[in-house]
Amino acid sequence: MDEADTQDNDVRGWTLDHDQFRGVLADLIEQVRALRADDADAAEALSRWWRSFSGAVRHHFRAEDEGIWPTLTRHAPGIGPTLEDLSAQHRRIESELSGVDRRFDALPTVVTTAGLAADRADLLVALTQVQAAILDHLALEEREAVPVLATRVPPPECRRIERNMVKGLSLREVADLLPRILAFADDAERATMLARLPPPVRLLNRLLFTPRYHRTRATLPLGKRT
Ligand SMILES: [Fe+2]
Repeated sequence: MDEADTQDNDVRGWTLDHDQFRGVLADLIEQVRALRADDADAAEALSRWWRSFSGAVRHHFRAEDEGIWPTLTRHAPGIGPTLEDLSAQHRRIESELSGVDRRFDALPTVVTTAGLAADRADLLVALTQVQAAILDHLALEEREAVPVLATRVPPPECRRIERNMVKGLSLREVADLLPRILAFADDAERATMLARLPPPVRLLNRLLFTPRYHRTRATLPLGKRT
């Protein structure tokens, strides 16, 4: 075994996706608080932003259930019950996400009505609940499952898993997701992640996806903040 084989797998791509969940959820709560009555454009932008995010969370859960968990179980059979718990949490969180989806869908209409205060309060409760469920879930996953991928799965399989995480995403979804994830990486991590992407995707990210990400952020209630 050469020295490279004794290194843990680099699983930062996976945990960076988790950091994105934590960061976007915290930001969303501030965005909802900052939404001004009658600002239908910002409400519409915020609603679309949420839909993109909740879709990405569902995709991530599916990739874990269908792609990562079977591999972890093969290399560490004892983790099976924990992975079943994590998948059960995925189902519960998905149902909470659907409730929040409906509230964000209604926001562009509600924002121009006297019902905004009550609906905003309900939305913030639902959003805070789903945030708490996701934070607990990620903590368990990072404590129990991530180390198994880092230390027990052969490197070629780990690289295949990382590639498969983006399978099934449309170009539009990649355009939304890639700059949003990279926003939570430090400079060195961002360079590492970008170096793993095919050159055409890197180019698209620089010329189209990232500028579009910043333009979209500017239309949210908190405006220019990134
Ligand atoms: Fe995860």
